[in-house]
Amino acid sequence: MGRFDEQLKHFEKLLEQQAARVERLKNEGDFVDYSSLDKLIIGVVGGDGIGPMITSQAQRVLEYLLADDIAAGKIELRTIEGLTIENRVAVMKAIPDDVLEEIKKCHVILKGPTTTPQKGDPWPNIESANVAMRKALDLFANVRPVKVEEQGIDWTFFRENTEGEYALGSSGINVTEDMAFDFKVTTTQGTERIARAAFDFAKKNGKTRVTAVTKANVIKTTDGKFLEICRKVASEYPDITFDEWYIDIMTAKLVDEKRRRDFQVVVLPNLYGDIITDEAAEFQGGVGTAGSSNLGKRYAMFEAIHGSAPRMVKEGRAQYADPCSVIRAAAMLLSHIGKAEESAKLMRAIVICSQEEKKLVMTGREGGATAEAFTDYIIETLKKL
Ligand code: IPM
Ligand code: MG
Repeated sequence: MGRFDEQLKHFEKLLEQQAARVERLKNEGDFVDYSSLDKLIIGVVGGDGIGPMITSQAQRVLEYLLADDIAAGKIELRTIEGLTIENRVAVMKAIPDDVLEEIKKCHVILKGPTTTPQKGDPWPNIESANVAMRKALDLFANVRPVKVEEQGIDWTFFRENTEGEYALGSSGINVTEDMAFDFKVTTTQGTERIARAAFDFAKKNGKTRVTAVTKANVIKTTDGKFLEICRKVASEYPDITFDEWYIDIMTAKLVDEKRRRDFQVVVLPNLYGDIITDEAAEFQGGVGTAGSSNLGKRYAMFEAIHGSAPRMVKEGRAQYADPCSVIRAAAMLLSHIGKAEESAKLMRAIVICSQEEKKLVMTGREGGATAEAFTDYIIETLKKL
């Protein structure tokens, strides 16, 4: 027996899994054409903590905006129960099988935040439901827009969503008592599709610049590959300016008022995308204001970028949670399924209610508006648009 036989066996298994995934990626089809469906099913998954509260409010907005299609049987809004930390712990799975099966019957999902256990929590350290869902539904593009008109900020981040540090985030090895290893995975297919998604978006939306962000000077193999593939895809889009930044200086440049307006579309590996989109959202009013889409070829999932705020629930403040993040995610969902006009109207209503008119203000606690009252306000505003 060699000293590291067990670890090598574990590593070999990971390599086989990832190699099999690459083969699947090679054979993946194209994006679903929603207009060809008889009925489009939107699954609404509440999640944990403040999730069910804010998601049900976003569902009301969708019910209002899609009323005609729902009445005609062309769109169904389907509530999917059971993606709770209690259920996940009971079966020791990031997503219980029956819940995943229900989710897979839908085309697009609106999802509330789910609690991610970490070391030291009362919960066993199971994989994040978010991360598991992105993998299970192969939602490779995490698209996170941030817009602050008065500051000239209009960014769209294309965060790779299934690879990088996250692919094997729950499969690291404690090699010895004193040495832990994690893995980072970058594939040609996985990088090509996110890079292409970013450039296609830029082209379709009149953007003139795409920026790739890595740490390829240090993380040479995986980030090096990511960057190389971005360069290759960039060469297919000669009308779009391509530039490269390292994640550390990029993080700094986002607070540089003179430089930050120049960024338009940013494409980056999973973990850097995770971190920098929280920073970026802060300029817009915090993670509570940001929505995010997770796009794959077959499925798409729309969610807030914040967590389930267990503290708010514990302190009895769940009803004051800001629903704007999930409502914004619902607007992104509308745009994704071809309801551009409804989506634009909803985005407009959110800006009117939370930035311009501000007849109600969310504070997250007593004295501020409740999620329900704020959603009424948004629906009333929509009626006038
Ligand atoms: C996000 C979140 C998740 C992530 C967590 C909850 C696992 O931070 O969507 O950005 O790291 O991707
Ligand atoms: Mg995050």
